[in-house]
Amino acid sequence: MDMGMFAGKVALVTGGASGIGVAAALRFAEEGAAVVIADLNEVGAETIAAEIRAKGGRACAVRCDVASEADNAAMVALAKSEYGRIDAAFLNAGAYAQTGFAEADAATFDTMVAINLKGAWMGLQAVLPALEPGGAAVVTASTSGVTGLAVAAAYSAAKHGVIGLVRSSSQAFAARGLRVNAICPGPVATAILGVTEQPPLQVPDALEVPGYAGTMQPQHIAEIALFLASPRSGAINGQEIIADAGFLASYPPMPQ
Ligand SMILES: NC(=O)c1ccc[n+]([C@@H]2O[C@H](COP(=O)([O-])OP(=O)(O)OC[C@H]3O[C@@H](n4cnc5c(N)ncnc54)[C@H](O)[C@@H]3O)[C@@H](O)[C@H]2O)c1
Repeated sequence: MDMGMFAGKVALVTGGASGIGVAAALRFAEEGAAVVIADLNEVGAETIAAEIRAKGGRACAVRCDVASEADNAAMVALAKSEYGRIDAAFLNAGAYAQTGFAEADAATFDTMVAINLKGAWMGLQAVLPALEPGGAAVVTASTSGVTGLAVAAAYSAAKHGVIGLVRSSSQAFAARGLRVNAICPGPVATAILGVTEQPPLQVPDALEVPGYAGTMQPQHIAEIALFLASPRSGAINGQEIIADAGFLASYPPMPQ
């Protein structure tokens, strides 16, 4: 943990109690970062923080509703007071509603926008002045932020907004020597897809490659988050990186 790509650095992960956020929190810690794990599910976040501490790492948990401006501010303040700096912010918390356009009510739309889009907006505003020079924010969007998703219209609309937000905020980040990018995952085996068991981390260089358009593991997305949060991706700012094992790249889809 003293030798990794985030040795001596501090990472903030929202949605860190489940799925992609767990894999990212554990991987940031393996790479030497102190990790602040923020989630609505405080018990789940603390469980992951305790796992990191038990392995000799540094981590703490905070209850945070990313749809709350005050909670976003408190999460950033906690990271600064606990560890003195923030180098990487993985704004990954999100919620899904499987409702088509014709059936979705305004309350569903409001919830999807509040958590997925306004949450990302407020998270980016909170971390922008707090990140160390050279630092980076990474936001989890979705392939349904790139192409419509008929069965989850409000979610898809909000994720489209996340990509616009990342593009539109990139100059503000660059003005401080920072970067912001989005990851657009295709299907990932997490609670959103009904998979509640968290797979153990794999050795990153031996991570099994998903088949064409196959379901990914949380760690596939976490590895991209670490790359985008690190200086290794220093040439990338304001972009959305599609991580869908090739599905959207070419139409019609390849027969499987
Ligand atoms: N799983 C997929 O197939 C998939 C595909 C594309 C994008 N995504 C996105 O990936 C991100 C992570 O999702 P996941 O797949 O790991 O799902 P998940 O359900 O396993 O994890 C989501 C986490 O976010 C937390 N959360 C939800 N609302 C919150 C709020 N208001 N404030 C703070 N935390 C909140 C949950 O408690 C949970 O721990 C989300 O933004 C999701 O939209 C997932």
